[in-house]
Amino acid sequence: MRLSMNNELISTANFRELIQGMRNAFSRGENVMEYARKFTGADINMEIATLIAYDLQAGSYIKGTLANPDDKDIWCAQLAELLTPLVDSKTSLMEVGCGEATTIAGVLGHLKSKPICTLGFDISWSRCHMGNGWLSQKGQSATLFVADIFNIPLEDNSVDVVYTSHSIEPNGGREQEAITELWRVARKAVVLVEPVFELASEEAKQRMIKHGYVRNLKLAAERLPSPITEYRLLDYSSNRLNPSGVIVLDKQGLSESGEIKWRCPITFNKLSNEQDVFVAQESGFVYPVLRGIPLLRTDHAVVASRLMD
Ligand SMILES: C[S@@+](CC[C@H](N)C(=O)[O-])C[C@H]1O[C@@H](n2cnc3c(N)ncnc32)[C@H](O)[C@@H]1O
Repeated sequence: MRLSMNNELISTANFRELIQGMRNAFSRGENVMEYARKFTGADINMEIATLIAYDLQAGSYIKGTLANPDDKDIWCAQLAELLTPLVDSKTSLMEVGCGEATTIAGVLGHLKSKPICTLGFDISWSRCHMGNGWLSQKGQSATLFVADIFNIPLEDNSVDVVYTSHSIEPNGGREQEAITELWRVARKAVVLVEPVFELASEEAKQRMIKHGYVRNLKLAAERLPSPITEYRLLDYSSNRLNPSGVIVLDKQGLSESGEIKWRCPITFNKLSNEQDVFVAQESGFVYPVLRGIPLLRTDHAVVASRLMD
């Protein structure tokens, strides 16, 4: 297993200490990301910390949705309104950092035309697992898998419309990398629904800095070769200290027509979906499927050259 904190390797001993410390902080009711930032001495959120923190919180979004169904419905209706002009019955749609699928399920419920195929991925397996339960409870369907925003296991121009709902948020400092990767896999459009630092109040800005949230996403989006067709604060934000905005990148005309094709996140070779396992024939890497959820981060690769013999 290759445990990485962004691009730096973490020793097994440090990892043991970090996960135990974060679990203890979680059971004391403390902010686990803050614990991890102190542990690593970094002022940004390391990917491994984001994974552990969000995995520990799995189930909390479903609880929140059940406690405040109207707020969630307003949120999902707002997203569906943004996506409606881009989605018809031939469109593939993907939510990046889908958490417990509470947003995907609501968005699907509000879209006038249902996409031909819906995908969602998250860094945390437990959140995808809870998400599968939530989707079936809501009578909606989407293929959920575990993957990393910075290395999506899909070919270029694979999914028509790629959107986020506050999922780049904790990855402050890696804005350009994140948007560029989303743009790579999208065929028609990228819809970023994220906190907008530059349009936030001073109090909100200080909070975003403290939590290591993304800043100046628009600047990063402007560096891509697609026009920004929408940029504004949204009418509804669930937290005034984390104001939500939208940036739409229009990729139409730039990309070839595509279909969903998996690729190995390490070698970028073709990855074939063999149902219980994903196989990269050229390299001999295989990626397991845990309780129906494909595990497609680089850390999950198993060298098993003889699997298909
Ligand atoms: C604030 S939550 C939003 C969840 C969901 N989009 C929603 O609207 O309910 C952020 C989500 O992004 C995921 N996430 C953060 N960084 C990620 C990364 N590098 N790769 C994949 N998922 C990530 C987290 O695990 C978490 O589920």
